[in-house]
Amino acid sequence: MNRVFIKTYGCQMNERDSEAVAALLRDKGYSIVPEEVNADVILLNTCSVREQAEQKAIGKAGHLSARKRRNPNLIVGIMGCMAQNKGDTLVDKLPDLDLVIGTQKFHRVPDHLDNVIASLNGLGPKPATIIDIAEEKGSQNTIKSHVEDNANVAAFVSIMQGCNMKCSYCIVPKTRGSERARPMNEIVDEIKALVAKGTKEVTLLGQIVNQYAVREFPFVDKKSPFVQLLEKVNAIEGLERIRFTSPHPVGFRDDLIECYTRLPKLCEYLHFPMQSGSNKILKAMRRPYSIERFKMIIDKIRALRPDIYISTDIIVGFPGETETDFEATRTAFEALKFDMAYVFKYSVRPGTTAEPEGDPISKETKEKRNQILLDILRHTSLERNQSLIGTAQEVLIEGPAKRGNGIFVGRTRGYRKVIVPASERLVGQLVSVKINEVTASTLTGDLIIAD
Ligand code: SAH
Ligand code: SF4
Ligand code: F3S
Repeated sequence: MNRVFIKTYGCQMNERDSEAVAALLRDKGYSIVPEEVNADVILLNTCSVREQAEQKAIGKAGHLSARKRRNPNLIVGIMGCMAQNKGDTLVDKLPDLDLVIGTQKFHRVPDHLDNVIASLNGLGPKPATIIDIAEEKGSQNTIKSHVEDNANVAAFVSIMQGCNMKCSYCIVPKTRGSERARPMNEIVDEIKALVAKGTKEVTLLGQIVNQYAVREFPFVDKKSPFVQLLEKVNAIEGLERIRFTSPHPVGFRDDLIECYTRLPKLCEYLHFPMQSGSNKILKAMRRPYSIERFKMIIDKIRALRPDIYISTDIIVGFPGETETDFEATRTAFEALKFDMAYVFKYSVRPGTTAEPEGDPISKETKEKRNQILLDILRHTSLERNQSLIGTAQEVLIEGPAKRGNGIFVGRTRGYRKVIVPASERLVGQLVSVKINEVTASTLTGDLIIAD
């Protein structure tokens, strides 16, 4: 009864939460299995950010419920954002679920699972679905466990939970609660422990990382708590690379911009959500910046680090987005030459301030706008990648490629995926790779062996 399969939907935050749950379960004697076929327990860590994300997880949970009717010993749980958002209404639809665990209760999964298993073994009363979605003070400090023996070469570290912004389209403040920061020293200790086990790269995670602890820690020498944290992480011996996601244009000041020249471990890569290029739509989205300010921040960073790679998030088809508004997005998107982008079609989310506006932009228009941006992106990122042909790039080898056969996968400091023939010995090492071939998303090359 102890083989657990965790399926994760949604963002890096969720991936990190799933890892932390996996580590806690292992500590309690459960084994985490890579496939669901032989699992005794299946946990879905879910996302609510767009309706489609919820539909996927509900569809999956429906299939698992049907399987459970044939095999009552199968344990099925739903965790994360959709569990938080839908709560007990999930059980109305899926009465066979064993667990519904909210975003502040991940650390309770092992105990809840023990109880379900005890009851299946006849050691306790058959419980109704366990629904645990309350708020919990200090829950941001519970996402800190990593699997003991085998740390990831590139690891995620959660530095805060929740969000205090009120972007009119977004359900995250509802699913993740209000902003709560972890203490700086605990984050630093966690990263030191990861490095001791072989981690070379960390990505600091939060909904708005540059807002990290603005209420809890003072500014020192005009440096925000987030910049202070970056400095401390940069000083960790043995760590090679730092990334973070996501920052917000609000509060992206010079102290942070200058980090790109001061802190050598901070990679020349930035994920910087723009959402729209129209000031009218940004205002309707309640994103409190103008496109001019957004561009100015990027200009300043590029002046300091011309080699930086920048990715973004865009929503097309927000209510009220006219052809002129979209044209402003298209122009800004093209001018800023993003290296990567996630383009989302607007999806109405219950309880958000944009909900009453409905979804007036047709599916076809959204699809068309989506394609226009993706075409620009393909062109820009291919062009940038082609400029790398023949150059030597620093690559951190993360592990074997899926296709195996001595082929490994790594990333450049700019977060470009690199495919390279190598050996197991090089996993976790920084190597130099000569780039031979490229597509819009991937580089392929050969190791450069030093004389
Ligand atoms: N905290 C991050 C974003 C988290 S959600 C930030 O503010 O940058 C990830 C992305 O999902 C957002 O940047 C946005 O582009 C997209 N998104 C959020 N709500 C959405 C909705 N209702 N419809 C479509 N896309 C949405
Ligand atoms: Fe959502 Fe806005 Fe918060 Fe990001 S900043 S999580 S988009 S409310
Ligand atoms: Fe992430 Fe989706 Fe929740 S984007 S924070 S898993 S709603």
